[in-house]
Amino acid sequence: MHIDWQISPMKEWRADVVLFYAFEDSTETFGGLGRWLTEHPGWAGLLDPPRDFVGKLLQTAIYYGSACEPVARVMLVGLGAAASFDLEKLRNATAAALRKCRELKIARVGLPLPALDGMPTGVAAALREAVIGGTTGLYLYQALTTRKQQPEDFPAALEILAATDPDAGLREAVLDAVRITSGIVLSRDLVTAPANLATPAYLAKTAAELADTYGFTLTVIDLEQAREMGMGLFVAVAQGSREPACLIVVEHCPAGTEQDAPLVFVGKGITFDTGGISIKPSAKMEFMKHDMAGAAAVLGAFKSIGESGLRKRIVGILPCCENMPDGKAYKPGDVLRSLAGLTVEVISTDAEGRLILADALSYALRYKPAAIVDIATLTGACIIALGDRVAAVMGNREEFIDAIRTVGSGVGECLWPLPQWELYCDDLKSEIADFKNVGERKGGAVLGGIFLKQFVPDEVTWAHLDIAGPAWTEKDLMSIPKGATGFGVRTLLELARQWR
Ligand code: BES
Ligand code: ZN
Ligand code: ZN
Repeated sequence: MHIDWQISPMKEWRADVVLFYAFEDSTETFGGLGRWLTEHPGWAGLLDPPRDFVGKLLQTAIYYGSACEPVARVMLVGLGAAASFDLEKLRNATAAALRKCRELKIARVGLPLPALDGMPTGVAAALREAVIGGTTGLYLYQALTTRKQQPEDFPAALEILAATDPDAGLREAVLDAVRITSGIVLSRDLVTAPANLATPAYLAKTAAELADTYGFTLTVIDLEQAREMGMGLFVAVAQGSREPACLIVVEHCPAGTEQDAPLVFVGKGITFDTGGISIKPSAKMEFMKHDMAGAAAVLGAFKSIGESGLRKRIVGILPCCENMPDGKAYKPGDVLRSLAGLTVEVISTDAEGRLILADALSYALRYKPAAIVDIATLTGACIIALGDRVAAVMGNREEFIDAIRTVGSGVGECLWPLPQWELYCDDLKSEIADFKNVGERKGGAVLGGIFLKQFVPDEVTWAHLDIAGPAWTEKDLMSIPKGATGFGVRTLLELARQWR
């Protein structure tokens, strides 16, 4: 969908439909709708009773004008009660409206700036979020279907209708929405792509394309090199698969930032998790293609960072491999030596994410990072603890955890803290190695974090995001259609933007 401005007097706006928002059971016409109505006498009857439309969240109604009107239709979309308004509702309402347009094969949608008048968050932020919500709500993955399920060409254009030249802030809001959406879409595409397509090599190729486009530095470490370097944990997980594994390192280092300590993002890139020898039940195993959502979130954030031309040094480290059962696969009971030199007894080969991340965290230390954030679909236990809409955040600095949560809630990504007290460490003690990779089932999400913590020196600021729940949605969440969500892209991007 093409997004553009249409700047002309209100009377001359042209569109197949113009969109206005409405609060539930509000007697007042919201925003600029009243003004629009006075300029368009042909539409005066729009608000006359009887009305079926009451402004319930996501409710849409279309009104048809006379043939001589330059605007053929007006669509109202509900925001729910005014008192509980937030940007999430605006994103979802816009998605509902644009999806209705797609269903009706409406090509050219006008979003009048006055439709956002009076938004509690200010017009620029509302505009940015409306565009993000609308465009991400139209997300479809049709790369592999030979018969298109949905008319993806509709709507072809979203035009922001303005009577006068929009100020720089408004123009920037639309540009920013496009940058952010492009990162979310990349991440969703990678996570949705099946494991026979989205292999480690495919992720490396994607990283190479980003590097080419935005001037990132790219290093791809293959399994042999990883073995020579001493990444015993990563190598052990990867060795059970015929699919070549790799550790992708992508660095955004704009001129003048070479000496800066970077912010490092580490993303779990298990392109398929069978559980390995500790094999998972086959029911729903197909969803384990999304076990690389952490890596995909980092790549998505890098795309948006590249698009934004951010002047900060950011590094992404993505250990990528499959977790398969095989004659060469690692086994429960094996003791592995990590890049950090610590030894790990494998209790379950299905707790593979923490193993590859541990080596990636050790590798990250070589960059003398200002802070490290790892992001991973790490534990099913996290879904049990927090549900599938919320990620867990753990780490070694309260302030950093708080900062991440604040950033996340500002962009519609919910993160909730879990403790990392020392009392949990006993659970990971091994009889024959420094640690086990799994403790008891109780507190599984916390223990995943505790395991990773062993590989991060106290003086390094670090946080771990467990996105096992929100990386994927089985429900249609309107601005997030069923499937891959792109969760994490916005939090990482915003964190990078607000960094220092
Ligand atoms: N990739 C899974 C975690 C997961 C589960 C992500 C469901 C998304 C949805 C991870 O590698 C795993 O299997 N974890 C185990 C850990 C256990 C063996 C300690 C789990 O959660 O059961
Ligand atoms: Zn697993
Ligand atoms: Zn996994």
